[in-house]
Amino acid sequence: MRPFGPIVYRLGHKLFKLGSRVRLPVGSQMKILAIETSCDETAVALLEITGLRESPNVKILGNSLFSQSHLHEQYGGVYPDLAKREHQKNLPILLEKTLKDSSTNNLQETINNIGYIAVTQGPGLEPALWTGITFAENLGKKWQKPVIPIDHMEGHIYSVLYQDKFSISNSQFSKLEMPALALLVSGGHTELVLVKNFGVYEILGKTRDDAVGEAFDKVARMLGLSYPGGPKVSKLAEKGRTLNTDSQGPTLVFPRPMINSNDFDFSYSGLKTAVLYWLQKHPIKTEEDKENVACAFEDAAVDVLVEKTRKALNQYSEVKTLILGGGVAANTFLKKRLADMLQEFPSVTLHTPQSELSTDNAIMIGLAAYIRIESGTTQENQEIRARGNLALGV
Ligand code: KG4
Ligand code: ZN
Repeated sequence: MRPFGPIVYRLGHKLFKLGSRVRLPVGSQMKILAIETSCDETAVALLEITGLRESPNVKILGNSLFSQSHLHEQYGGVYPDLAKREHQKNLPILLEKTLKDSSTNNLQETINNIGYIAVTQGPGLEPALWTGITFAENLGKKWQKPVIPIDHMEGHIYSVLYQDKFSISNSQFSKLEMPALALLVSGGHTELVLVKNFGVYEILGKTRDDAVGEAFDKVARMLGLSYPGGPKVSKLAEKGRTLNTDSQGPTLVFPRPMINSNDFDFSYSGLKTAVLYWLQKHPIKTEEDKENVACAFEDAAVDVLVEKTRKALNQYSEVKTLILGGGVAANTFLKKRLADMLQEFPSVTLHTPQSELSTDNAIMIGLAAYIRIESGTTQENQEIRARGNLALGV
């Protein structure tokens, strides 16, 4: 990914370049059709966006999402071939629904007014990514629209840009000021990213083994809870925390791997194993036992995230915004702990996604596309390829 190279869009088989001369005026209105198929959510959205990158005016004209998580439950994780088949089956249905929802009367007019098609290129499961890319490219050819490849993690960063009137985020009316620090926590990723400016990234640290969401899911499985287990573990932990507050504080404490390491990397595999060994020695007998284990696990997992974020904010004192993104951003305890920690950094504003935008969705892909187009950082791409291990800033 070259942040400031010339912009090359694919239009059908032809390539054409947009130099900065012919860039759209900043803040011009844009309709973006966005497609997301990186994992087990099939999602299509049509967005109308105007305004500045730091506080755009976002209208969601249509948004359709199908979660396959119940189908993958029996595998305890996402089964790539099943995900691919489901995406193939569902994409045309979701597209039709999105377009119908977006059209007040004339469907063809809605299609004509679409300026760009944005599609997730990676990271993710390659068979699943290919499905979305092929679908987007076929639409691009048929409708003669440019197709823009988007990094899924960039989507999680800019998911905070959409806050509807029902959202209770503190940052609802504040601008996304740069530079920012993004803590991205999902089922596949745990990383701290320095967002030097819109479209310009440096990964400061990432997990060396399991992602934090994956650890939540695995601990959930050990506790007999179905996939995705993060929200269920978190609910149990909340109850466990009440028990602990009433008594003398937690009696069960799990290790906090790498909390004092001299870098911004994470490790969640050891914590998961510590829970496993504990459960082998102390089988669950009551609901209270479950709540205690969930609480001790969540405390340890969140402590490491908060400490590493604090360390990064101390080192990068120019940071004005802390962005929390990814599925685990729905975790109430994590949000509270980050907000508490930010009292030490009064000039830093916390931006968190509203709950439906923390897990995978197409709205965030459309938002990231808007940022790329407005920043002139769309990728120089001869061909859009699925890139399972795509990394920000590389
Ligand atoms: O971003 P996402 O939808 O998919 C990936 O890109 O991985 O994240 C899904 C992950 C799952 O591991 C799920 O268990 C976790 O986010 N998750 C949570 C919560 N809600 C979702 N983890 C902890 N607490 C939650 N409330
Ligand atoms: Zn995700």
